[in-house]
Amino acid sequence: MQDRHSIRFLLGSESRELTDIVPTTTVLEYLRKVERMTGTKEGCAEGDCGACTVVVAENVNGKLRYKACNSCIMFVPFLHGKQLITVEHLKNRNDELHPVQQAMVDQHGSQCGFCTPGFVMSLFGMYHNECDTSRVAIDDALAGNLCRCTGYAPIVRAARQALHGHKPDQFDHREKQTLRSLSDLDAAPSVHIDSSQQSYHAPATVKELKQILKEKPASRIVAGATDVGLWVTKERRHLDCVISVSDIQELQSISVEKEMIRIGAATTIAEAMDTLSLYYPSLDELFRRYGSEQVRNQATIGGNVANGSPIGDSLPVLVALDAKLIISSAAGSRTLPAEDYFIDYGKQDLGPGEFLERIDLPLPIEGQQFRVYKLSKRFHQDISAVCGAFSLTLEAGIIQAVRISFGGMAATPKRAFHCEEALIGSPLSGDAIVRGRQALQRDFNPITDFRGSSDYRTRVAGNLLEKLFDELSGREQTIVWEADYA
Ligand SMILES: Cc1cc2nc3c(=O)[nH]c(=O)nc-3n(C[C@H](O)[C@H](O)[C@H](O)COP(=O)(O)OP(=O)(O)OC[C@H]3O[C@@H](n4cnc5c(N)ncnc54)[C@H](O)[C@@H]3O)c2cc1C
Ligand code: FES
Ligand code: FES
Repeated sequence: MQDRHSIRFLLGSESRELTDIVPTTTVLEYLRKVERMTGTKEGCAEGDCGACTVVVAENVNGKLRYKACNSCIMFVPFLHGKQLITVEHLKNRNDELHPVQQAMVDQHGSQCGFCTPGFVMSLFGMYHNECDTSRVAIDDALAGNLCRCTGYAPIVRAARQALHGHKPDQFDHREKQTLRSLSDLDAAPSVHIDSSQQSYHAPATVKELKQILKEKPASRIVAGATDVGLWVTKERRHLDCVISVSDIQELQSISVEKEMIRIGAATTIAEAMDTLSLYYPSLDELFRRYGSEQVRNQATIGGNVANGSPIGDSLPVLVALDAKLIISSAAGSRTLPAEDYFIDYGKQDLGPGEFLERIDLPLPIEGQQFRVYKLSKRFHQDISAVCGAFSLTLEAGIIQAVRISFGGMAATPKRAFHCEEALIGSPLSGDAIVRGRQALQRDFNPITDFRGSSDYRTRVAGNLLEKLFDELSGREQTIVWEADYA
């Protein structure tokens, strides 16, 4: 297929074609500096505050899907073939405010106003996606937006007002026209841009990806850019050659077959969470607490794994569930147990020219219990201090098989082999908790950092084991005093 050498997208309802843009320019930078649209604000430039929230709409099976995203860590080429909606686009032709804007006015949802466009855009995303108007759903949708002066009560009231009075807006009325305009863009995939500073490829197929990686093995793969974006905005790193995997449909599929869930590496957390939580309900809370709605809409599961951070949330889960990684290159594919991928801090088993293609996760078997617990200073939008994942198979109350993995306890996500050994063949008893806690001290010697001291991490890892036992045995929370197991 012929490569395209430009980025085409809709800015509101106007089409744009960019040929001369540095591919790691962020959407925020483009809006403010090139388009001079300053409604979208810059707060943190690292995906935390939501002041830069925009909505990106795309054609999914003939319908528009709206996603709130952080424009400060989204590179412009990600807009290719999509519609970018900012706060400037929300008023209708009669100059009337959008219902979410009107609700913010009516409920006094803004004081200094700096955060307001971001809140409005998150509410707009919710207006188009969310049927659930509960407080929990509103909090989840707004967790990626920080406000320092209004306080959240009026903003939550504004969300309720807008969602309860929901009726089709001008975007719904124009949906067919927008879909037509998107197809008129003729934004064929397989983009290749060579600017004076950077080379950028967005292949459309796995085959093309392999070929580009073969020719340019030192390129930087980028998926959702929720890690890579910060290297650019915060560390001012220059990336010579970038290969985006987010236009490759084959890398975005989830299928359930032969006792296995197969997840394409470029599947976003938002897309993966529904299917995975269906089979492992404990994952629901973990994913709800994964960054924010904006981060989940951008971040991919493959990016989380490939990045290999010791505090990446999906990693202990994949290790405890004995997931397999399918790693590919032009030379072929290999299958690696997730736990073998993490070699040392910042070092993963991924050679030049290789990429993560898929993750295979076994479906639960009879008697298997799975729990994952994330500990962080805030419930939402915070990185784990410790994340513990436990998979146990019980028969007549006895632990027949067990895999335990922790994030935040070592330089890589790591299995708790001593603890597993101490528990196998045991009932869910207080004695087993004591042995398990002692064993965890042999498994880990965690560091002290601003997320928690070594001592704190060791204690809470044991507490999580105890919580697991209490939940599985239906007991009230017991407290095993330190003296009992020291
Ligand atoms: C505000 C904020 C909150 C966050 N909260 C959380 C959180 O709660 N929990 C958590 O775990 N993480 C969190 N993160 C971190 C981040 O979102 C995740 O690590 C994310 O899953 C990375 O995915 P991505 O697609 O954005 O990766 P990218 O940034 O695109 O890439 C990350 C790394 O993976 C490589 N890569 C990506 N895809 C592939 C592939 N298919 N094959 C080979 N290499 C690949 C890239 O080269 C790069 O080295 C947060 C980040 C931000 C900015
Ligand atoms: S500027 Fe703070 S999330 Fe983008
Ligand atoms: S209104 Fe000032 S930060 Fe929200």
